[in-house]
Amino acid sequence: MNIRLATVEDILSIVSLEKEVFKESLGESFLYDEMMLNPYSHIVIGEVEHKMVGYIGLRVDEKAEIMNFAIFPHEQKKGYGKALLTYALDYLKTHHAKTLSLEVRESNLVAQKLYLSFGFKKSHIRKNYYQNEDAIVFIKEVNP
Ligand SMILES: CC(C)(COP(=O)(O)OP(=O)(O)OC[C@H]1O[C@@H](n2cnc3c(N)ncnc32)[C@H](O)[C@@H]1OP(=O)(O)O)[C@@H](O)C(=O)NCCC(=O)NCCS
Repeated sequence: MNIRLATVEDILSIVSLEKEVFKESLGESFLYDEMMLNPYSHIVIGEVEHKMVGYIGLRVDEKAEIMNFAIFPHEQKKGYGKALLTYALDYLKTHHAKTLSLEVRESNLVAQKLYLSFGFKKSHIRKNYYQNEDAIVFIKEVNP
């Protein structure tokens, strides 16, 4: 898999990935503004044979955050998620982030297992963060 920063040319692929995985998307204009106007927004995509297989949207700061993270369903369980997360953590080290945090659905055990295996720790619960569901906040020191 080739991993690189997204450009505006990737927006349509990101929208279709979000719709397929999350049933809704941040939308083209939101993603365009994120890329062009928000200096903290860094979107990392993975591609195989020039086709996007997944992405991680990061807010890069001392306290960095994962905004979104998804792999196309037919491309899951092939190691691409782990590879993207590894890349994101290396990227954040070089951008002087101290911590990386994220919210995950309480029911999303696959993602939670992945975060725990990468050394993330459960921090706290955000009640009703999603419609009808709590989020668990995970956090990891990036530059311990
Ligand atoms: C979470 C997600 C990004 C992981 O990506 P992935 O490419 O499938 O992950 P990998 O292939 O690198 O595998 C990571 C681990 O998850 C496990 N895994 C992945 N999909 C799984 C599934 N559907 N059922 C059970 N285990 C699964 C893998 O077996 C692996 O664990 P292991 O090392 O113990 O074998 C992907 O499942 C996804 O897009 N999910 C939907 C969106 C989502 O939940 N995003 C995160 C929101 S916080």
